[in-house]
Formats: sequence, C-alpha cells, structure tokens
Amino acid sequence: MTVFLFITSISDIRDLDTCIKACEDVDFILHQAAWGSVPRSIEMPLFYNENNIGGTLNMMEAARRSGIKKFVYASSSSVYGDHPILPKVEGQEGNLLSPYALTKRVTEEYGKLYHKLYGLDTYGLRYFNVFGRRQDPDGAYAAVIPKFIKMLINGETPTINGDGKQSRDFTYIDNVVEANLKACLAPSEAAGNAFNIAYGGREFLLDIYYDLCKALNIEREPNFGPDRPGDIKHSNADISKAKKMLGYDPEYDFEAGIKLAIDWYKENL
Ligand SMILES: NC(=O)c1ccc[n+]([C@@H]2O[C@H](COP(=O)([O-])OP(=O)(O)OC[C@H]3O[C@@H](n4cnc5c(N)ncnc54)[C@H](O)[C@@H]3O)[C@@H](O)[C@H]2O)c1
Repeated sequence: MTVFLFITSISDIRDLDTCIKACEDVDFILHQAAWGSVPRSIEMPLFYNENNIGGTLNMMEAARRSGIKKFVYASSSSVYGDHPILPKVEGQEGNLLSPYALTKRVTEEYGKLYHKLYGLDTYGLRYFNVFGRRQDPDGAYAAVIPKFIKMLINGETPTINGDGKQSRDFTYIDNVVEANLKACLAPSEAAGNAFNIAYGGREFLLDIYYDLCKALNIEREPNFGPDRPGDIKHSNADISKAKKMLGYDPEYDFEAGIKLAIDWYKENL
C-alpha cells in the first residue's frame, strides 16, 4: 500500500524526533509546512530561519533516515528575487528581496544536496501566488484574493499596495495539488530539481480588483497605499520544465479558478 503524508501541521517540524515519527510507514512526503508572508519575514528573520530552513531540513533528514521514496516540498516564486526577465525561468534567479525568499532558496539547495549526497528523490515546487477555497482571508498577512473578497462582501474598502499595476501568475489550488501528485509519480531523473508551478498567465492586481467587484455586483473604488517592502513588481512563470519533467498540465486558468473561489467564499464566509 502507498502512504502519503501531507505535512502542514504535524505538531512542530523544528523537532527532529517529531519529523522521524511522522515518516514512519510512509512512502511519499508532500511537505508544505512553513511560515509564509514576505513582509512578516522582514520583521522576524530568525523565526523564518528556524521554521522554514530548520524545519524543512529536519523533514528531509527524517525522510532520508526512513527510506522515503519521494520528498516533494513547497518552494516559492520569491526565489527569483529582483531578476527582471519575464516569464521566470528556472536557472535565472536574481538577488533575493526577503528572508522568506532566502529560506526557500536554501531549502532548494538542501533538496539538491540531499538528492546528490544521499539519493533522496526531492522535488521542489515553486508556487506562484496560490489562491482558492479555504484560504484564510483574515489578518495583516492574508493573501490578497481572499482578503479582498471578504472585505468587499462585508462592505469594506480594500487597500491596494502600490499602484495596482503589479502583475502575478495567480494559480488555482487544484493546479498545485496536481503538481504535487505528478511529482510523486515523476522519474528519479527529475529529482534534485525545482520547478515553476503556476498556470503561466499574468494578471494585474487592479484588474483583479475590478473583476472581483463585477463578480460580486459591487461598485466601489479601492484605496491605495505604499508599496510593500520585499515585493516583486511583476511575476509570471514559464512552466515548460514542470510540463516536460513532471508531466504537469494545469487544468484551471485564472478565470476558471477565480470563479470557483468566489463561489466558495460567497457560500462559506
Ligand atoms: N499560498 C501561496 O501563494 C504560496 C506561494 C508560494 C509558496 N507557498 C508555500 O506553500 C506552502 C503552503 O502555503 P500556504 O499558503 O498553505 O500556507 P499556510 O500558512 O496556510 O500553511 C502553512 C502551514 O505550515 C504550518 N507550520 C509553520 N511552521 C510550522 C512548524 N514549525 N511545524 C509545523 N507546522 C508548521 C502552519 O501552522 C500552517 O498550517 C508554504 O511552504 C508556503 O511557503 C505558498
């Protein structure tokens, strides 16, 4: 029997014994646990180092000791830093802009090394702005799509950081799930690599704001605030490496995904 372990909260991955215990009788690990948010990482670099780097290293080490077949882990588009080229292509990374991005890059380096030194089949998935059902809309560090939907539904006015002309490859959650499963089935030749996981589209934040207003039947102008430190202005992905090496073939473009997300929030907020 094949056993998958989806790690988001197994107690605390900063504790190696906990990680070793979690790997018992498991074949595949899909490691997602980390602290997100670029601005928060700028406030708390040590904490990010401990959890995102230390915790992921514990998980890889536990996987190695337990003879795990495949170790798939979440990386991030933030590893591209200030590299100006669009679309983002694996192998063309710039200077990092936040401790969060650094934790993901270090994690990828460990992924490479654990494959090379110990033969652990690791696959790093560089997610690009994931959105979809059940994403937390609350708090200062909430992702922009659920946050805007909730505020608009509640009659509040969202604030756009910067001019709203920043663009992102917003990626529907089901595409990310598909990528994780495809990585588990990928050949060992693809291991030790990191892959862009996105749809390959490009949406501008201001357009998304007005699309959400339209879908929710609301007419309201947004507020504008300062740019967020550590943010990349534009980001969209070339997904050909994941297509070729993992057989990744995302089903949901932004339009299909946002429709499903809005429907879910309308029913569940
Ligand atoms: N959501 C995105 O747009 C996005 C984009 C790029 C990368 N990622 C990465 O994808 C992964 C999942 O992201 P998400 O948006 O679901 O984040 P999330 O914050 O919703 O979930 C992360 C989970 O990790 C857990 N966690 C953190 N530190 C832990 C520790 N020491 N021990 C055990 N559990 C711990 C948290 O409690 C949380 O449940 C993360 O690694 C994140 O960095 C997400």
